[in-house]
Amino acid sequence: MASRRLFSLLLLIVSLWTTSVQSLDSDPMKCNSIRNEDRIDCNPDPPISKEICEQRGCCWNAGNNTDDDGGNLISRALPHLGVPSCYYGENYIGYKIEKIYIKDEDLSMTKLKRVRPSGFPKDIENVNIEIHQLNDQVLRLKFIDANQKRYEVPTPKLNIPSVSKSSNSRLYSTEISGSHLIVRRRETNQSIFDINLAQMVYSDQLIHLTSKLPSKYIYGIGEHREPFRKTTDWKRYTQWTRDQVPISDHALYGSHPFYMMVENKTKLASGVFLFNSNAMDILTQPSPAITFRTVGGILDFFIFFGPKPEQVVQQYHNLIGLPAMPPFWSLGYQQCRYGYNNFTNLNQTYWRTRQAGIPMDVQWTDIDMFDSYNDFTYNHKQFKELPDFIRNVLHKNGQKFIPMFDCGISSGETAHSYRPYDYGVELDIFVKNSSKQIFNGKVWNGKSTVWPDFSHPNATKYWSKMFEEYHKIIEFDGAWIDMNEPSNFYDGQIDGCPKTEIENPQYVPGMTDDSLTLRHKTLCMTARHYNDQLHYNLHNLYGFQEAIATNEALKTTLNKRPFIISRSSAPGHGHWASHWDGDVISDWSSMRWTIPSILNFNLFGVPMIGADICGFIGDTTVELCRRWYQLGAFYSFVRNHNVDNAIDQDPVALGETVVRTARSALIYRYVFLPYLYTLFYNVHQNGGTVLRPMFFEFPDDDHLYDIETQFMWGDSMLIAPILYPNQTENKVYLPKGTWHNMGQTFESQGQYFTIKDSLDDINYVFFRSGSIIPMQEPQNNTEMMKSKDFGLVVILDPKNPEHNAKGSLYLDSGDSLDPVKKGEYNFYNFEVKNNTLTIESQHLGYQTNQSIIVLEIFGIDRKPTSIIFDGKPYYQFIYTTNNMLIIQTKLSIYNNDNDDKSKKIHYQFEWKFN
Ligand code: NOJ
Repeated sequence: MASRRLFSLLLLIVSLWTTSVQSLDSDPMKCNSIRNEDRIDCNPDPPISKEICEQRGCCWNAGNNTDDDGGNLISRALPHLGVPSCYYGENYIGYKIEKIYIKDEDLSMTKLKRVRPSGFPKDIENVNIEIHQLNDQVLRLKFIDANQKRYEVPTPKLNIPSVSKSSNSRLYSTEISGSHLIVRRRETNQSIFDINLAQMVYSDQLIHLTSKLPSKYIYGIGEHREPFRKTTDWKRYTQWTRDQVPISDHALYGSHPFYMMVENKTKLASGVFLFNSNAMDILTQPSPAITFRTVGGILDFFIFFGPKPEQVVQQYHNLIGLPAMPPFWSLGYQQCRYGYNNFTNLNQTYWRTRQAGIPMDVQWTDIDMFDSYNDFTYNHKQFKELPDFIRNVLHKNGQKFIPMFDCGISSGETAHSYRPYDYGVELDIFVKNSSKQIFNGKVWNGKSTVWPDFSHPNATKYWSKMFEEYHKIIEFDGAWIDMNEPSNFYDGQIDGCPKTEIENPQYVPGMTDDSLTLRHKTLCMTARHYNDQLHYNLHNLYGFQEAIATNEALKTTLNKRPFIISRSSAPGHGHWASHWDGDVISDWSSMRWTIPSILNFNLFGVPMIGADICGFIGDTTVELCRRWYQLGAFYSFVRNHNVDNAIDQDPVALGETVVRTARSALIYRYVFLPYLYTLFYNVHQNGGTVLRPMFFEFPDDDHLYDIETQFMWGDSMLIAPILYPNQTENKVYLPKGTWHNMGQTFESQGQYFTIKDSLDDINYVFFRSGSIIPMQEPQNNTEMMKSKDFGLVVILDPKNPEHNAKGSLYLDSGDSLDPVKKGEYNFYNFEVKNNTLTIESQHLGYQTNQSIIVLEIFGIDRKPTSIIFDGKPYYQFIYTTNNMLIIQTKLSIYNNDNDDKSKKIHYQFEWKFN
């Protein structure tokens, strides 16, 4: 009895004690313990107010914040967000973990239940998280509605790595700790992805999730005009494809929800891809942390554990689709302008470029070549001579022609007078509006425009047919697909869009201050694609799906390797097409930004990338244009193009100095095209970067993580152009090691070198010791190079007693379809070891009469006494004062032995010092 009384007393004390503790706790939601930089926004959707915030069960503390105005719509539209006023307290529980269970060795599930409304309509009550261990390097986290199927991205079809059984070599581990889902790198126990599930929002039109970042070294997230290394100082990177001149703080043409991080001390790299095509904001904050806020679909994350940066990128590319192999000719110089306006201007520009001895491979035309700006036409008056010119001048000379293919098709022509419209109606492949009528907007065409729905199964047939018919008139060799965000001069149809929640979600991602609607300068969100799919879901994929159809159309029409330049892009794009930077302004800062941009697109799997040399918008200047040629000659895609109302900017139009600079830079490029082509082959096989940030190669050098004025071609060539006006010297940072440049050697401890500039010499390209780089005699175009012989530049490190070096060469016909699959290519390995250079074929499937005729070996510190070639003394060599050994030779690189086709190519040169 006594003990029962004692027990009740104890209970009373305990309960009194807890109530008194609660009543004493002035911060029951645990708001105060959250540092400003860690706050996660609970009211990102305007209006923002204390009342709404508290209704959501969140903490309010406006401080000096812009949100203090109680919901200023415009302040929320700006990209610099700052510390949120309304944020989740530590005790906030939106979702509760109900159950965790292992389905099988490589798949575990977590079930979540919503326990309080998020403040967004249609909360999803039950969310399942699937954790798939795909293989040792790649993990997938998929968050789905447990009760209902939601929209999921239809393309690209991901190449999901086949699950390999759990092994001890998994680079990661996962755990649920309290309400946190944490993914760690096993080697270091560093958390790579860490989400507080209690604070997640998963509602019909707003899904929001924040993860801690392992460091402030974060790269990727495109397409924006921002530094290569992304800031974590409260920044919003919207993923919404838009026709937008590249200026900062605006979403541009492509959507790429992928980022790569490098951990602070270990320099180990990882990457995260969110496979979701809806409009979204990706936000960074100083914790450091990253937030994904998407208006639809599901959360489907892939996490890549590298551990090297290049490996992270390769793992990503293997998932989304390996980069296409470009035709060899597309690596050549290309010239275009909007506003040739007639054939005479085009012809004059072409001939003056050719006569100036500037190598050139491709002539382009823009919409002014069309009749009334309509696709698949040409202006018979102004461009009468064009078809003959393509056949008899360009093609006869081994050059190519690329016209524009806008995605918008004119719908305002007299009935039955314009086949591209009529045939599209016949196949019923145009995008519809919400009343199931063809969706009409307006782009360049006179009255109105309709859009092929490239998600429609018959769209490829339509597009291919149009290409085939057009090719009978205009013999094009590649395709330029533009305005495919898709861009529209109206916001929706002429009379706008229906007023529904699809058009006006409660939270609207956006980086613009001029519009808070998703339909701004594009189609209505309620527009319908195949299978009644909403444009709301497919918008970000439009250009990408067009690229796939165009790839097919070019293959059908030409039966050759397709070459496509597209303005809009999405993950997987590089498998089908390439990209250029769009309407860059002709100024110095825009030129500088093109380096972060080309590096970004290499992360995104679109290694064929460049910007309009000399700039697109506005008049360029002689100096800017000269510097831009020096830089642009090292883009992978190299084209001069400008707007219709600007001055001519082809080199000759700008005068002799620009001609000299352009010619020397481009000739230099042509010399190293075999190396560039080999880099493309490598990424086509394995994924990875062609143009590469320096820290990928030298991860231990902290200084390199912020350098975005220099970049590399593969692992061997470093390009450090001048990017500011009035420079007579170039300050170049060379990572630790030995570098060569025009006969000069630089021993670097990881330091800056000042190099005297000359506008005509290519003294801003450096070769890394340990490299063997194939080169070729340059010609006026790549077709002419196909029969020319090769040379090898061998860069040895005199400090390295082993004097080792390595390189390779890939070679094929240049434009055949699937040469690798068919085995119609050659591949050679080059190696220097123990004073011996070995040249060996790894694969021989492309017949050629070409030879290697010269070996330039740098870094031999004294004259060899003899050279032995295939066991015999060899005398065709000279040794120059700058430590260079030049061997002249003629080594056939194809096995012409009809009796033994399996015979490899194998040559050896040894230099001896007695
Ligand atoms: C926009 C493109 O970005 C630009 O390059 C082109 O010249 C114009 N459209 C006209 O077609």
